[in-house]
This record gives sequence, C-alpha cells and structure tokens, in this order.
Amino acid sequence: MKATDPQPMAASNPAAAGGLQTVTIALGERSYPIHIGAGLIRDPASFEAVPRSALAVVVSNTTVAPLYAEALMRSLRQRHRQVELIVLPDGEAHKDWPTLQTLFDGLLRLGADRKTVLYALGGGVVGDMTGFAAASYMRGIAFVQVPTTLLAQVDSSVGGKTGINHPLGKNMIGAFHQPVAVVADLELLATLPPRELAAGLAEVVKYGPIHDAGFLGWIEEHIDALRARDPAALAQAVRRSCEIKAAVVGADERESGLRAILNFGHTFGHAIEAGLGYGEWLHGEAVGCGMVMASALSARLGLLGESDAQRVARLVARAGLPVRGPLLGADRYLELMRVDKKAEAGEIRFVLLERLGQALVRSAPDKTVRGVIDAHCG
Ligand code: NAD
Ligand code: GLY
Repeated sequence: MKATDPQPMAASNPAAAGGLQTVTIALGERSYPIHIGAGLIRDPASFEAVPRSALAVVVSNTTVAPLYAEALMRSLRQRHRQVELIVLPDGEAHKDWPTLQTLFDGLLRLGADRKTVLYALGGGVVGDMTGFAAASYMRGIAFVQVPTTLLAQVDSSVGGKTGINHPLGKNMIGAFHQPVAVVADLELLATLPPRELAAGLAEVVKYGPIHDAGFLGWIEEHIDALRARDPAALAQAVRRSCEIKAAVVGADERESGLRAILNFGHTFGHAIEAGLGYGEWLHGEAVGCGMVMASALSARLGLLGESDAQRVARLVARAGLPVRGPLLGADRYLELMRVDKKAEAGEIRFVLLERLGQALVRSAPDKTVRGVIDAHCG
C-alpha cells in the first residue's frame, strides 16, 4: 500500500519562511486543517474550524501553562463564552490513569457537557492525554491540538492516536479520536529546551527513511539550521512532516497496514522507554536510537545497504540524539518488544527499510535481533 503524496519534497520553499500554511488531513466528514505559522495562538482566526460552544477547557501542564495559556485563552474568548484551564503535572511519568482521572474530575467539576471543546496546549504527553479524555468523556467530545513541542507539531498532534502508558507497555491504553483542528504555532518552539528540540528532530528524521529520500537529503543539508531554530527551516520541516503524516493517515487511519511505518524506530524505542522507566530517556531520544537499530537490523537482514544504515545513524547523531541503546540485555529487550501493538501472536514485527524512502513491516529471527542489540547497546 502506498500513501497518496501529491507534493514531493521541493528543494526549497521560500513561502515556508513566513506566512500561514495549511495542510489538510483528508478523512471525509472528519477532515481537519493543520495550521502552521508564527503567532497563531494570539490570532482568534486560527480557530475558525472549531465549533463555537459555551465552554472551552484548555488542558496544559505546569511548564507550558505559565508560558502560553493566557495568550491562548484570550483568543478563545472570541469563540467561547467561558474558557477554563486545567493544569496537569509535567512529564511522561504522568501519562497515566491517576492523571487522567484528575482531568476527568476537573471536567466534571467545571460542568463540561457534550458541546464542550477541549484544547490540548502542550507536547505529546498533554496531547495524547487530552485526546483520550476527549475520546471518552461523555462518550466523545471535540478537541483541538495546540502542540508546543517540535515532536508534537510534526507527529503526535496529527492523526488521532490518543492514550496513556501502562507500566507494562507504552501507549497501551487509548483510542483513535481525531481533533477538529491542529494549530501549530512555530513561535512557541523558542522556549523549548535544546534536548526537547533534538527529541522532536527524531520524528522529523523518521519521515525521510520511511517515505521520502528527497526529504532525508533536505534534512541532512539543514540539520544545523534546524538545531539553531532557523525559522524558515523549522517551518519547512513541520510542513513536510505534516504532509507526509497526512498522506499516510489519510490512506490508513486505523493502522490496518501502511500507518505502521510511522513506527519506524519505535519497537526498539518503546523497549528503551519502558525498560528504563518512562521519562528517563525522552521519547524522541529512544526513537532516534531505535531508528539506528532498525536500520542496522534492515542491513543485517540484507534489505538495506550497510552504507545507507550508517547514513541514518550519522544523521541521528548530528541531530544530537543517542545512537547507542542502554544495556538492558537482549532477553529484556525481546521481552519488552513483545508487548508492542504491532506484535502478532507473540511475534515481534519491526518497521524495516528496504531502501531509503521505502519501509516495510515484518518479523526477524531472534538471533539476528540479538546480534543488533549486542552490537548497539551498552
Ligand atoms: P512532552 O509532552 O513531555 O514535552 C516535552 C517537555 O517539554 C515537557 O517537559 C513539556 O512541559 C515541555 N514543553 C512543551 N512545550 C514547551 C515549550 N514550548 N517551551 C518549553 N517547554 C515546553 O514530550 P513530547 O516529546 O512533546 O511528546 C512525547 C509523547 O508523545 C510521548 O508520550 C509519545 O508516546 C507521544 N507521541 C504520540 C504520538 C501520537 O501519534 N499520538 C506520536 C509520537 C509521540
Ligand atoms: N506516531 C505514529 C502514528 O501516528 O501512527
């Protein structure tokens, strides 16, 4: 299966430096816009696709709310009579049932009803939890993604995957629930710590090897500009990433096939996150290292040239991400990787590369996987 992708990577896109760009997720009556640009949360027009309602609730965390909640709420008061704020604790370790319960407590206390709109103001953790709350509160209400990390702008805010972690497995409890709009304000990336910026670059890099070798080359050329937060480079990276994700999600919303390629690096990565305890490594760091391991596995299986695998590893390193995994032991990696949503009848399935720009999903002999773990960890 192939995603429809009408706009291949252009060598450069001067328009990307400045004004508003919109990418559409085409899902019939559940289609929605992803607006990308600078200063969007301060402009009420950014939220025109959102239904008007009496009550809107902004969900954020203790780090992001003091920075941006007031500006967003000011804009939202043009659309909703009452705008309230719920602040969650910050961190991957809080993407869990107890925190979700406090969110439901807050919504019930505020008298949220079926018309209430939730706004997720934060990174992937806030976005995934708010989306899951929206999917299940009163059996489903509308929500808007306002992603504030690079990772959330290029990946987690788009496509409707929502949920929380379980101690035994990452993102194991959740639902598909599409937002009604995504508003990615590039200005908000200014306050992102460098380590978080690098983590977001992992998900940008991902789109090259799995779908667009031209984009991979573009990232290689612009990686220093991206790390320096060059506005034109960031705008281009967010736009192209969202276009690729939109094409994949539009073709396979519920991951019956193609969408699994978006999990490149995630099988090894989720094992690292769960094995070390959530929050020890950032999700993007684990994915970066996981992409190096998945590329090495692709090479060992004779699918991908060794030099191409090394090209992925070099770019991951240049993005400021770890390329060696923690020493958990091959047995523990295998045990953790069996608790993966792609696993079938206990058999681990990996997203592998058959060439740069083309991914496939398949199993691999344990012995070969062990060889990769031994060579790339510790
Ligand atoms: P995160 O949400 O934990 O945010 C990273 C850190 O940056 C947090 O401390 C946050 O408070 C802080 N922060 C956020 N925006 C900021 C800003 N503008 N300025 C300063 N600090 C800011 O992590 P993340 O990397 O955004 O997301 C990772 C999560 O996303 C993981 O749980 C992962 O499983 C999930 N994810 C989901 C999908 C999906 O399709 N739903 C895809 C990829 C990742
Ligand atoms: N980040 C994986 C997906 O959205 O499918």
